[in-house]
Amino acid sequence: MATSQRRVGASGLVVSAAGLGCNNFGRAGTATETLDGTREVIDAALANGVFFFDTADMYGAEPGASESLMGEALQGRRDRVVLATKFGHERDMGYGFPGGRGSRRYVRLAVEQSLRRLRTDWIDLYQLHLPDPETPIAETIDALHELVDEGKIRYYGHSNFDGWQIAEAEFTARARSTGRFISAQNHYSLLARASEREVLPATNRYGLGFLPYFPLKNGLLTGKFTREGGPAESRIMGTRRHIWADAPWDALEAYEAFCAGRGVTMLEATFGWLLAQPGVSSVIAGATSAAQVESNAAAADAWKPSQDDLAEIDRLFPLPEDPAAQM
Ligand SMILES: NC(=O)c1ccc[n+]([C@@H]2O[C@H](COP(=O)([O-])OP(=O)(O)OC[C@H]3O[C@@H](n4cnc5c(N)ncnc54)[C@H](OP(=O)(O)O)[C@@H]3O)[C@@H](O)[C@H]2O)c1
Repeated sequence: MATSQRRVGASGLVVSAAGLGCNNFGRAGTATETLDGTREVIDAALANGVFFFDTADMYGAEPGASESLMGEALQGRRDRVVLATKFGHERDMGYGFPGGRGSRRYVRLAVEQSLRRLRTDWIDLYQLHLPDPETPIAETIDALHELVDEGKIRYYGHSNFDGWQIAEAEFTARARSTGRFISAQNHYSLLARASEREVLPATNRYGLGFLPYFPLKNGLLTGKFTREGGPAESRIMGTRRHIWADAPWDALEAYEAFCAGRGVTMLEATFGWLLAQPGVSSVIAGATSAAQVESNAAAADAWKPSQDDLAEIDRLFPLPEDPAAQM
């Protein structure tokens, strides 16, 4: 069954409500470290209507590995995918100079390398991975807009911007009468609701689509972990054990009971809650197997919470009063 589709904010770009986060491709120690593992997940995604893929130039054991594997696996079917990637992370990409990751010089270098690795002529959504404190946002917007004019990218978005940076980017674009960022990608899940303070109000005000990252809290919100532990092969039990160790188990157990009471799985409730938040365009969940993508595709359309359900979830996972307490 295909998952439903949504527009990204006020733009014309349409994506699948269940997206595919691609930071597992080329990651050491996962089934998706290899081309075969990557191909298996991509095949399952496309077979289940998941056609929005989000990667970044820096993903992979070696920077560029995720893009390179995707480029290979998408040969002959590139046009079936809405492909998003990112540039401008602090990880050294070997492009020759530090700083100015939003500068025209850097943007143009980075896009050529991503296009080469992805083996495509165009990127659908090109995102600034992190704010660049050194470059005026006007220069970054101009450089991105040139890439649209040249057909190298179709749209551009940002990631990890604060509310004020979203407003600054919006009004800079308006003042220059250029195109504008169409999307924001920020950390957001039931266990990380800080974006509700300033980011989501800003994206909704300006008509940007919102792409929550770590939407499943690396797998913690799928229901496969308990206070006692979880699958040994999972990334959480392997390299991100603190997520399990520090988890609010009382709340998670209450959430499990809430899901059981409504006859849905935790995975379905987690997708349903995210997709019920105004402005969310796609849940870009990572996956390390075909089975995971399949269940994520089905979960996107399995459950629509009522107002009472949303209020109950707010009670289970309230936004902490201290802004620094939960990122
Ligand atoms: N913009 C940014 O700065 C930024 C930062 C981080 C991530 N991201 C984006 O967010 C995407 C998602 O991040 P993420 O993959 O780290 O976290 P996530 O989506 O919260 O969690 C995905 C992980 O949960 C497990 N999982 C997924 N579906 C499952 C299912 N149906 N049943 C059981 N387990 C399941 C898998 O891990 P195991 O198999 O290992 O358990 C999978 O790798 C990334 O790929 C990237 O595109 C963006």
